[in-house]
Amino acid sequence: MKVSFYQFAPEFGNIKHNLRKAEDVIASAATDLIVLPELFNTGYQFISKKEVKSLSEKIPSGFTTSAIIKLSVKKNIHIVAGIAENNKGKTYNSAVLTGPDGLIGVYRKTHLFYEEKLWFSPGDMGFKVWQTPLGNIGIMICFDWFFPESARTLALRGTDIIAHPSNLILPHCPDAMVTRCIENRVFAVTANRIGSEQRGDKEKLMFIGKSQITSPMGEILYRASEDKEELTVMEIAVEKAGDKNLNSFNNLFNDRKKEFYE
Ligand code: ACM
Repeated sequence: MKVSFYQFAPEFGNIKHNLRKAEDVIASAATDLIVLPELFNTGYQFISKKEVKSLSEKIPSGFTTSAIIKLSVKKNIHIVAGIAENNKGKTYNSAVLTGPDGLIGVYRKTHLFYEEKLWFSPGDMGFKVWQTPLGNIGIMICFDWFFPESARTLALRGTDIIAHPSNLILPHCPDAMVTRCIENRVFAVTANRIGSEQRGDKEKLMFIGKSQITSPMGEILYRASEDKEELTVMEIAVEKAGDKNLNSFNNLFNDRKKEFYE
């Protein structure tokens, strides 16, 4: 099966433009699953609560989610897309998973990074895994990578492929995903953005690009450039994520010593 990401630079606040860009790319992509960056429709650097409210949307009825669902159904593919969610007066840094039959699920970012804590409520759903004809898909968003429990929990719950919408600023994530994938025997598709944002009197944020597809053996199947817009599609053998035996003695999950862990 074919997995992919679309790395690009969203324009802050221009939901129509960002959505159109993603739609155009997805329309021409021969893929089964495509992952878009974190907050791909809004941009990243908010400067007021009012702004977050006005750019966030209800799931599934909101503008972006409705369009992504339509595209998934029309193209018969799965899409993971990071969007700002508005639910019962709270805003979340969320991602939707859509498929040929419509909305499959929503994940709300658990570990908020830096000023995201001013704008968003932390995710209240935990880490979820959805069974699909492509395999079991779990989602974590950007800074969730910093907490190994995120990927571990997804793996323990049966994830084959971690879809990882991101707006990476710190430099270490692409390398760290090698370890996350080895220690959990999962695939990961990290879809990062490129470019920079500097809004109001805030500091300039530089996004590192380097979106990545990583195998359960920790192979970097593809790492994108730091600064170029890219759609990358790769064939993967998803069943490789199901085998948790490292050798005839060691099994990744059976060998855990939970009694010694915090
Ligand atoms: C991040 O979590 N967007 C750095």
